[in-house]
Amino acid sequence: MNAKEWLTKAKKEGFAIGAFNVGNLETLEAIVAAAKAKKAPVIIEASPGESSFMGYNNLVDLAQNYKDEGVAIILNLDHATEFEKVKQAFDAGFDYLHFDGGQLPFEENVAIAKQVVEMAHPKAVMVEGEVDHITGSSDLHTGEKVASEQVKGNYSDPQKAREFVERTGVDTYASFIGNAHGLYADEKRLDLNRLKEIRQVIPDTFLSLHGGSGVNQEDIKAAIEIGVNKINVNTEMRNAYRKELEELLRTSDEVAMYKLYPEIIEEVQKVVGEKIDLFGSAGKV
Ligand code: 13P
Repeated sequence: MNAKEWLTKAKKEGFAIGAFNVGNLETLEAIVAAAKAKKAPVIIEASPGESSFMGYNNLVDLAQNYKDEGVAIILNLDHATEFEKVKQAFDAGFDYLHFDGGQLPFEENVAIAKQVVEMAHPKAVMVEGEVDHITGSSDLHTGEKVASEQVKGNYSDPQKAREFVERTGVDTYASFIGNAHGLYADEKRLDLNRLKEIRQVIPDTFLSLHGGSGVNQEDIKAAIEIGVNKINVNTEMRNAYRKELEELLRTSDEVAMYKLYPEIIEEVQKVVGEKIDLFGSAGKV
C-alpha cells in the first residue's frame, strides 16, 4: 500500500498514523521495533536538518530495507520551508512531502505549494501544506506555559484553509489548534470546535496534527474522531533518548557505544508504542 492508500484507510477506519521524527539510527530502530511489535503503519519523518544529518538517500535506503521486511513505512520530509529541500527529498525518493510555507505571505505559500503538488502527484507522492504557522519547537520549554506559545501563533482560519486547499490541491492540511511543538509546563489543550469547522470546510482533505508531545489524551482521541489521521511526535522521543543516555553515561564506563544503544532504543520504543495505542493504529497492518 502506498502513502495515500494508508491515509485513506486511516480516514475510513477512524485512526491516526503516528509520524515519528528520526535524527539518528537508534531512533529509527526504536520506531521500527514499535511498528513491528504493534503491527502498526508508521510515518517516519525527518526535518531538513535531520535529513541532512542522516543523508536523504540514506533515509530512503534505510526505509526501503525495513519496507522489504514487511514494515508499513511512509517516509516523510517534515517542515521543509524551501522548495529546494522539498525537491531534494522528492528526488531521493521520499513518499510524502510537508512544505511548510506557514511563515510566508499567503500568495507565495500558495504558489510554492502548488509547484510542489505539480511535482509530487504524478509520482503518487503526497503533499502536506501549512498556512497558519504552528509555533514552538521540538524541545523542552521548561517552566514555560504552552498558552504563552499559543498566543504568538495564529490558530488555523477555516476559510483560509479552504482557499489554500482548493488553490493548491495539497493532500493534507496541517491544522494549528493549540498544538504548539514541544513539551511545556502544562498540558496542551486543543480547540476542537475549530477543528470541526476545518473538517467541515475541507471534508476530503487529510488533517494532520503536529506537536503531538504533551497533548491531553482525551483531546487527541476527540481530534481523531473529528478527522485527524496523522499525528507528529518528536519531543517525547528525544526526551526519552536523552534521559536514558544521561543515565547510562552516569552509570557505565562502556566505550563501545553500540552496546548501550539497545537500552536507549527500548525507552524510545516505549514512547512510540504508547502513541500507537493512543492513535488506534495498532493491529492495522
Ligand atoms: P512535538 O515535538 O511536540 O512532538 O512535535 C513534533 C512535530 O510536530 C514534528 O513536525
